[in-house]
Amino acid sequence: MIEAALTASAAKKSIWSVTQDLPSSDLLTHNAETDVCVVGAGIVGLTTAFLLGKLGRAVILLDDGPVASGETQVTTAHLSSAIDDRIANIERWHGADGARLAVQSHVSAIDQIERISTELDIACDFHRVDGYLFLAPGDSEDTLREECAAAQRAGLTAEMIPRAPFKSCDTGPCLRFPNQARFHPLKYLTGLTEAIKKQDGKIFTHSHCDSIHGGDVCRVTVGQQIVKSKAVVVATNSPINDMFAIHTKQAPYMTYVIGARISRGTVADGLYWDTLHAYHYVRLQECDSTHDWLIVGGEDHKSGQSQNSDQCHERLRIWAAERFPIGDVEFTWGGQCMETMDGLAFIGRNPLDKENIYIATGDSGMGITHGTIAGILLSDLITGRDNPWERLYEPSRKTLRASSAFAKENLNVAVQYGKWLTPGDVESSEEIEWDHGAVVRRGMTKIAASRDAYGKLTEVTAVCPHLGCMVQWNKAERTWDCPCHGSRFAADGQCINGPANVDLAPAKS
Ligand code: FES
Repeated sequence: MIEAALTASAAKKSIWSVTQDLPSSDLLTHNAETDVCVVGAGIVGLTTAFLLGKLGRAVILLDDGPVASGETQVTTAHLSSAIDDRIANIERWHGADGARLAVQSHVSAIDQIERISTELDIACDFHRVDGYLFLAPGDSEDTLREECAAAQRAGLTAEMIPRAPFKSCDTGPCLRFPNQARFHPLKYLTGLTEAIKKQDGKIFTHSHCDSIHGGDVCRVTVGQQIVKSKAVVVATNSPINDMFAIHTKQAPYMTYVIGARISRGTVADGLYWDTLHAYHYVRLQECDSTHDWLIVGGEDHKSGQSQNSDQCHERLRIWAAERFPIGDVEFTWGGQCMETMDGLAFIGRNPLDKENIYIATGDSGMGITHGTIAGILLSDLITGRDNPWERLYEPSRKTLRASSAFAKENLNVAVQYGKWLTPGDVESSEEIEWDHGAVVRRGMTKIAASRDAYGKLTEVTAVCPHLGCMVQWNKAERTWDCPCHGSRFAADGQCINGPANVDLAPAKS
């Protein structure tokens, strides 16, 4: 019997942001010069800045919000070398050597996080745990056997076991991956922020980067201020300096998460995934002396392309309550993954850009390990050190063996432009209920109209400033999401995720 409820008062925030304050920093109010300017203070930006600082480079780190206020604060922080897109697929797309290197890079990322948190004495709840991949209903054991063999060929320990270690539900046969990990991402990033400041790195928050120019002397503009540097790292989740080159090779997917209390010991501490497409992912986080939070994610869909995103959290609750004796759901949140055409992130020099501009994007559902790999790889590239992962993560790569899937994704993007011709979701703004939003056709264009919880109407253009797709209301997150390349905007039009770098303009009356 399913007793847990999705309470109306469930915080629409991640457990991380409620249990750790984000560190604050100053605004950039002057011109500056440095060795490396890093734009974006999430896992990629902070790790890169810290490692560059250790190598003796001067760094300026900019973010348009507080530190770690973007996608990093909505991760579930599974620290895994059992690659989300499956090692068998990575081997198909990148060959046996590529799969080995990919696994090795994720293993190194987890080791790096453990080393940094130990060396800096960051109390970030880092724990080594096992990971378990179990079958979705109707899936065959062959799926697990294939993945087990591919993992072993790639140098990762994996074994078949009779069931995952839940008391409350028999998952049937399952794959166990030892030596994975979990942590509290914001506690870790708070520690990294303090360490960067101790290295004399400069961090400026609420400092929106307007433009980025490469060359021998790179320039980043922030309003009237200019930061000059020898290199720039664009660590903005989806690069704000790239119009096409990367965005035709990755696709944005929304994913949803719930958090509910569970008695300690009911579920063995670990990372859990099923083989559903899109899969569920589960982990624990300490709550109080007798309970953990059970964190459950899934229900992924293409960003800006679901009419019923408001039901995603409820479906997660039902799935979780059928398997685990959870209490009421106290947290609901969501985030966006950038899924690349071949399961691995894009990390390196920005294709088709001037010299000395580097990017990291395409988390592929593994944002913390890919973000840490980016920190290691980019700091090596910038300081001229060899790194064996350089070719694997090269942003200009074209993986022919993965091209058919991406032809479909690009066709999907093309279809989105047809929305210029379709009617609005509703005839007029009058029809929009309180705490809802909808697209309204007005003459030749469309308006993104929403009402807040008190009925106040806000109207902005529905045309995404990146490349002109029509945004769609995300009922679960109360955001405007672009179905083409993943730009996201708050209800009032404020840009909260690239590749767009400006807000939705106010609607013309
Ligand atoms: Fe590219 Fe909106 S994100 S058009």
